[in-house]
Amino acid sequence: GKGAAMVTAVAYRLAKQHAERQRILDSLRLDRDQLLEVKRRMEEEMKRGLAEKAHTTAAVKMLPTFVRATPDGTERGDFLALDLGGTNFRVLLVRVRSGKRRSVEMHNKIYTIPQDITQGTGEELFDHIVHCIADFLEYMGMKGASLPLGFTFSFPCHQTRLDQGILIKWTKGFKASGCEGEDVATLLKDAIHRSEFELDVVAVVNDTVGTMMTCGYEDPQCEVGLIVGTGTNACYMEEMSNVELVDGDEGRMCVNMEWGAFGDRGELDDVCTEFDRAVDDQSTYPGKQRYEKMISGMYLGEIVRNVLLDFTAKGLLFRGKLSERLKTRGIFETKFLSQIESDRLALRQVRSILQHLGLTSSTCDDSILVKEVCSVVSKRAAQLCGAGLAAVVDKIRLNRDLEKLSITVGVDGTLYKLHPHFASIMRETLRDLAPDCEVTLVQSEDGSGKGAALITAVACRLRDARK
Ligand code: GLC
Repeated sequence: GKGAAMVTAVAYRLAKQHAERQRILDSLRLDRDQLLEVKRRMEEEMKRGLAEKAHTTAAVKMLPTFVRATPDGTERGDFLALDLGGTNFRVLLVRVRSGKRRSVEMHNKIYTIPQDITQGTGEELFDHIVHCIADFLEYMGMKGASLPLGFTFSFPCHQTRLDQGILIKWTKGFKASGCEGEDVATLLKDAIHRSEFELDVVAVVNDTVGTMMTCGYEDPQCEVGLIVGTGTNACYMEEMSNVELVDGDEGRMCVNMEWGAFGDRGELDDVCTEFDRAVDDQSTYPGKQRYEKMISGMYLGEIVRNVLLDFTAKGLLFRGKLSERLKTRGIFETKFLSQIESDRLALRQVRSILQHLGLTSSTCDDSILVKEVCSVVSKRAAQLCGAGLAAVVDKIRLNRDLEKLSITVGVDGTLYKLHPHFASIMRETLRDLAPDCEVTLVQSEDGSGKGAALITAVACRLRDARK
């Protein structure tokens, strides 16, 4: 009768809604063939970036870093390091001891860089940085000390030597004017002179390189550095004969891949979804850093938010009620994603996180769906990252003509460290896509700052040896 017809209609509607949800979630799932294809294209892009002719048009820039030697344990002294471009801006004092008491001791202080400064002029940005250094020296009771300084500057830079880095373009949230095309070491030195003290800027270092060096201090097999934090990027030791942008064929040089820009020439178009395109459109630099926008902490929450917006607009979530809160950019920070996906968390707690985010109208089903969206999005990120890394380690293996390669990757970054599943999914993907490489992933503690100091220490050791 009528009742049965109504039940059927409701069941039909629910089934349809379920199918609709699954269709959307499926668009965010990648199969093995797609991942293999991502790996293959990354390999191709790496070759383009390294080649002298193709380099100018390559998306993945493969930038020489002029880091050729890893620490050998004989370096020592006090060094300053700056770490700009991650979640926090930090100034560090690093004491490196050699010999039997070989050790690295660090003191650091975190400073905030207000948004109006990251978006202001370059002069303001560098004056602020120097102001923080001065404050730090005073705080350490070292006012007036003139120390060698390593500058971890986590943006793409053209380097023709270790102590120079020409900013190619800002990435992540930064937009200070007058810096692109300039040498950031000079910008820093100019600001230091303006504030009348002396520092010796010895090295400009990408955070991936710092991370690799820090791990390399303990483990000589560490020849890859990986960051999965606000942004994502990798570096590794490449054969000099393949680094066509630098003269000489002897030995190896660390190459800063700037792999975040993978996809900027369309290499990821067929795995991108409408949500990725929305996140890209709303970002500071549309069309740029497409791979990074599918992987790193600055964007994952935004992908999730865009999926939730779509679900809500289609009446599949939050009872179809679009709240102002959900329309707000940046509400899903990495730490919330990580909390929502924690296995130990009861649904009730997911709901209270949503409430905390101001998404109050959620039901129990909503919580289940939100958690599912988060896990699909972060799984895809970890798999894409694993596919990229598979390309890197396999390239190193082939460079050395090896059947099997055993290698260590130093990893840093908030997303990698905080997320409950990212590391294990990435490892699984890597094992699947690069079966001939035995990869050990080592979390580096304070890699970028400590690494800059170590690189500075090595440079000072070599410089002193020449004197
Ligand atoms: C961005 C930067 C890159 C950095 C990465 C991780 O991709 O362009 O230089 O290594 O973020 O911080």
